[in-house]
Amino acid sequence: MIKVENISKSFKDTQILHDISFEIKKGDFVAVMGPSGSGKSTLLYSISGMDSISNGKVMFENMNISEMKEEALSEFRLTKMGFVFQNAQMLKNLSIFDNIILPGLVAKNEPANDIRKRASKLMKRMEIEGLEERDIREVSGGQLQRASICRAMINTPEVLFLDEPTGALNSEATEQVLKILADLNREGMTIMTVTHDSCVAAKARKILYIIDGQIAAYKEFLVGENREMEVEKWLKKLS
Ligand SMILES: Nc1ncnc2c1ncn2[C@@H]1O[C@H](COP(=O)(O)OP(=O)(O)O)[C@@H](O)[C@H]1O
Ligand SMILES: [Mg+2]
Repeated sequence: MIKVENISKSFKDTQILHDISFEIKKGDFVAVMGPSGSGKSTLLYSISGMDSISNGKVMFENMNISEMKEEALSEFRLTKMGFVFQNAQMLKNLSIFDNIILPGLVAKNEPANDIRKRASKLMKRMEIEGLEERDIREVSGGQLQRASICRAMINTPEVLFLDEPTGALNSEATEQVLKILADLNREGMTIMTVTHDSCVAAKARKILYIIDGQIAAYKEFLVGENREMEVEKWLKKLS
């Protein structure tokens, strides 16, 4: 579904990503790990077309998104990709519900009523129904993060990108987000997430380990493998 071919990215004199290639297949769950500052976020933003690259290309199905014009690219991102960040990044002057439906309204592909119905379904599914009219400062961090997953899913994207989605959450809230991601993936959603958390990585089927902007290690898990133990062992070997 997504083919990353030899991408590099420089910023002024510093090279942040070096010649990275890999593939994300439909239904994959990919975790990106590695030390702070190794280029994980930059990689995520480069693949999703939020950030430009210096060399190489990113193919999304048969579209070369590295060559798309900004306007087409933002439409593409809005309808095909969902994004979740460490801090939910919701608008302060809108209710939770209005934040969730906003990307749906911006996409202008459907009647507002359909978008509202889908938002309600998503909120129910993420177990945050009842919080519709709350201000974003009136819910917990975990609830806010689940709302931001609803927002990311509002246009029924083909792939969900997450940058340290549990980085600011306590362990209970992390568990809830993890369960949601695992369920979404089981139902076919393609997921790529940056994470420091081996519990999150243990839900993935592939892990890319980035050091200094390069893929330093890569692991695929077999179905049924006890991934938590495997991930811990694998990470220990790398550090
Ligand atoms: N906009 C930017 N301008 C300059 N340097 C940047 C910028 N974004 C990232 N970097 C640098 O690129 C490197 C990788 O950053 P980042 O992708 O955020 O790492 P990670 O997400 O793995 O912590 C870091 O050394 C960071 O300082
Ligand atoms: Mg980062």
